[in-house]
Amino acid sequence: MLVNATEMLKKARAEGYAVGQFNINNLEWTKAVLLTAEECKSPVILGVSEGAGKYMTGYKTVAAMVKAMIEELNITVPVALHLDHGSYEGTKKCIEAGFSSVMFDGSHYPIEENVAKTKELVELAHSLGISVEAEVGSIGGEEDGVVGRGEVADANECKMIADLGIDFLAAGIGNIHGKYPANWQGLDFEALEAIKNATEGMPLVLHGGTGIPADMIKKAISLGVAKINVNTECQLSFAAATREYIEAGKDQQGKGYDPRKLLLPGFEAIKATVKEKMELFGSVNKA
Ligand code: 13P
Repeated sequence: MLVNATEMLKKARAEGYAVGQFNINNLEWTKAVLLTAEECKSPVILGVSEGAGKYMTGYKTVAAMVKAMIEELNITVPVALHLDHGSYEGTKKCIEAGFSSVMFDGSHYPIEENVAKTKELVELAHSLGISVEAEVGSIGGEEDGVVGRGEVADANECKMIADLGIDFLAAGIGNIHGKYPANWQGLDFEALEAIKNATEGMPLVLHGGTGIPADMIKKAISLGVAKINVNTECQLSFAAATREYIEAGKDQQGKGYDPRKLLLPGFEAIKATVKEKMELFGSVNKA
């Protein structure tokens, strides 16, 4: 069932668990995430970066594929199709293309401009029943060309953006896209607590979910995080399983080169990663 992400995240925030956003890249990724969500009876958010949207030939293709797949696979759990780190133009395109949720990432603009653009996009998205995520501070590292310096979000600025009627808020708290460096300082829980107190009940979003230790994930959830984004970890699982298949020479045995066979171990590996995260985030049986 394709829905916006508002209700599923309000429920997660109120009940003390988080819904995973898993970024998709192609048909195998989408199918793996949807089937795992259904098996786990978990709500789920499919994240699409602008780069991945372009790779899949455009947002309309993605929306059509996801809607058809939900129907053909009889997916009954709530699924949101969400733009990840959208630009102003990209956000408008996804709203038009039939996404059920969008993230407008105005964190690189001065706060006044972030406020003005977020406000405009909230009005447009809400008039069509689409949920909106906004960002304050920034996520360190790089994801599909979106680069952040990792500034920790200011709680007052978070309140300014939260007050615009957005549905959930991404705030930089020392989190990083991609693998964490060995000298990573960990999440800034003081900043998270201040943001939680300033934004009263707002579901908070933790980007850079790959590689955050389980105890930090649990603490973040206890401090208002209701959505956790995972991208790199599924890519690593997929790559490792595919490498193992090829290194074992299985693509050369029988019709092992058939793409449906060649991509199967990677597909199963994504499923295992998604299941592990849903268990950690506490969203199993919450659909
Ligand atoms: P990772 O790639 O570090 O899991 O981050 C995902 C993310 O935050 C998507 O916006």
